Amino acid sequence: MPSIQTKSAAAATQAERTPDPCVVVIFGASGDLTKRKLLPALYHLEQAGLLPEKISVVGVARRPLEKTFAPDMKEGIIAGGGVEESDPKLDPFVAKIQYHAMNFDDASGYEALKTKLAQIDKDNGTCGNRLFYLATAPEYFSDIIKYLGEHGMAKPANATAPDGCKTWVRTIIEKPFGHDLESARALNDEVNKVFEEDQIFRIDHYLGKETVQNILVFRFANGIFENVWNRNYIDHVEITAAESIGIEGRGPFYETAGALRDVVQNHVMELLSFVAMEPPVSFEASSVRAEKVKVWKAITPIHPADTVRGQYGPGAVDGKPVVGYRQEDRVHPRSQTETYAAVRLEIENWRWAGVPFYIRAGKRLSKRVTEITIQFKQPPLLLFKDHEGKGAEGIKPNVISMRIQPDEGIALRFGAKVPGPNMNISPVTMDFSYAEAFGKSSANGYERLLLDAMLGDGTLFAHRDGVEATWALITPILEAWAKDPIKDLPNYAAGTWGPPAADAMLKSDGRKWRKL
Ligand code: BG6
Repeated sequence: MPSIQTKSAAAATQAERTPDPCVVVIFGASGDLTKRKLLPALYHLEQAGLLPEKISVVGVARRPLEKTFAPDMKEGIIAGGGVEESDPKLDPFVAKIQYHAMNFDDASGYEALKTKLAQIDKDNGTCGNRLFYLATAPEYFSDIIKYLGEHGMAKPANATAPDGCKTWVRTIIEKPFGHDLESARALNDEVNKVFEEDQIFRIDHYLGKETVQNILVFRFANGIFENVWNRNYIDHVEITAAESIGIEGRGPFYETAGALRDVVQNHVMELLSFVAMEPPVSFEASSVRAEKVKVWKAITPIHPADTVRGQYGPGAVDGKPVVGYRQEDRVHPRSQTETYAAVRLEIENWRWAGVPFYIRAGKRLSKRVTEITIQFKQPPLLLFKDHEGKGAEGIKPNVISMRIQPDEGIALRFGAKVPGPNMNISPVTMDFSYAEAFGKSSANGYERLLLDAMLGDGTLFAHRDGVEATWALITPILEAWAKDPIKDLPNYAAGTWGPPAADAMLKSDGRKWRKL
């Protein structure tokens, strides 16, 4: 059984936080996300006793998959969720999965869906509560939202159902939320016409990761770090989101996205806001979101000279040859899409003025690692400067590295005296490993977010202001890049650490990316 939290914590949480009975309706359910992530996550919640007893899951997609959908999801739970086929809760849970075929732009399909959901309420006591999950390609978001509104499915049927349970309707919207600032605003307008802001849950699965939530705990539940978490002590911050995988058959999507839209605008910006935000007045959704938005708004406009883009060519990953981006399926042979992006930025506020933040994200890099590095300044007096004996590495600045994934943990580097008659100093590391401290987990991040959405807790979801603030930062870079195609693509071989220009960017500041 996956430990998404320790047993006692799970029991305590369960007592406090069991959602109301509800139907989870997944649009775009024939896609990869549903089978690989959403159903395994729902099942992990079921295993941990965190789901209501009365729950139904309805997959919605175009193809007629009525017969195969539930068995297929069962397979996904077993393969993607690390679940044994013999798990006693599995078959009863799979029995709660249904399917509804319809075209997302066909009004009659929504009427039929509405009738089906009403029947499920009658049969299963799900009280009219709905969690709509938009996991389709983004071009369908507007239609689905509009039709849900037109068919009276976006508002709770009545405030309180006959048996006393509260009724609610909420919608989770997958990324990408918009393509640039203008489209994100337009989508926000469309969604806000139909749903109230507190019904909308714009998901970024990074916020479901324990290690990401732990950034706030590390900073604000400990007394010692916050005192040095500022420009007086920190030299610079690096955020790396490196992947060794390529685009995994998603050519048409990736061609319209690129690394900046796919990962930097959302996942990396979320990480950055957690690292840089001021302590919120409480852990309420509105307080946390307000502090995040302040960070994004304090970032000075990013000059194109402070950006690097790259695209991978053929190379080798884990010793195996792989094709270049332009040779991937359904990718233009002269594509300009970036599979790597690096950005240098500054946050102009009292805490961070003058501290560079270097961020990089890319596909087909040497290895999969997402890490935040806080590099501290050298101590003001290098007392031991003349004592760095041969053979010792000498004094290096302190570093706190937060390993978001894999090998989740946090390490602190400091100098220590090498045993012996001389005053030789070497960097050593104090290391906290999640797996060692709390045991291994097969949770994928969606568990917490699905549960929170069922509970109506928007703390870990993006708000309208936040989405627009991050697009406001990224859109000018996209526009500058579009006007200035680069000639030397591909400019890094698959399996390396990205284009040399990214190293040069740090070198010009007298720095180097941390070796990961
Ligand atoms: C998704 C991107 O949002 O995040 C993918 O669309 C990327 O391209 C993925 O691979 C990374 O997520 P994780 O959890 O594997 O780091």
